[in-house]
Amino acid sequence: LSEADKTYLSNSIREIEDFQKPGIKFKDITTLLGDAKAFHLLMDHLVERYENREIDYIAGIESRGFIFGSALAARLRTRFVPIRKPGKLPYTTISEKYSLEYGVDAVSIHIDAFTGAGKAKPKVLLIDDLIATGGTATAAVNLINKAGAECIEACFVINLTFLQGDLDIKKTTSVYSVLEV
Ligand code: PRP
Ligand code: MG
Repeated sequence: LSEADKTYLSNSIREIEDFQKPGIKFKDITTLLGDAKAFHLLMDHLVERYENREIDYIAGIESRGFIFGSALAARLRTRFVPIRKPGKLPYTTISEKYSLEYGVDAVSIHIDAFTGAGKAKPKVLLIDDLIATGGTATAAVNLINKAGAECIEACFVINLTFLQGDLDIKKTTSVYSVLEV
């Protein structure tokens, strides 16, 4: 991405003060999605980055990771796997818990999610819109490994670098963020 394209993309994301908690500047990606130039700049950039990599699956994290992940999977002509919040997937699942500021949450995946490629260790690209504390993405990488696949990279549109959420996840996989704020 050129600096001008980066600026355009960055400016397409709306910031909402105090959503969903006081003091939080929420990154609203609906304005990026609603701007055809921004959405396609981003997708073309991701296609260019990943088109020559061996990727058997793209895994997207519910729910905003579904949008970018499935769009990219279609562009790369590869497969898509949803990593979901608990209680949503109908078949046998495996889950991974992670801590929140108060309490715990979890992500789930179908036990046979990565069997369709017919490989012993399929290669997976993980996608989400944003990394904040890194709790969700770290749990998702662990889940991919538990399901018998290998996470080759975790990719985010936005990295809130001041939270250093990528520190843990970098121990197990490489991390790429399109925009760092
Ligand atoms: C947001 C964001 C990431 C996650 C990042 O999702 O889309 O998935 O939080 O936070 P973390 O790095 O601190 O774990 P959210 O749970 O708000 O749900 P949504 O995608 O369904 O809106
Ligand atoms: Mg999310």
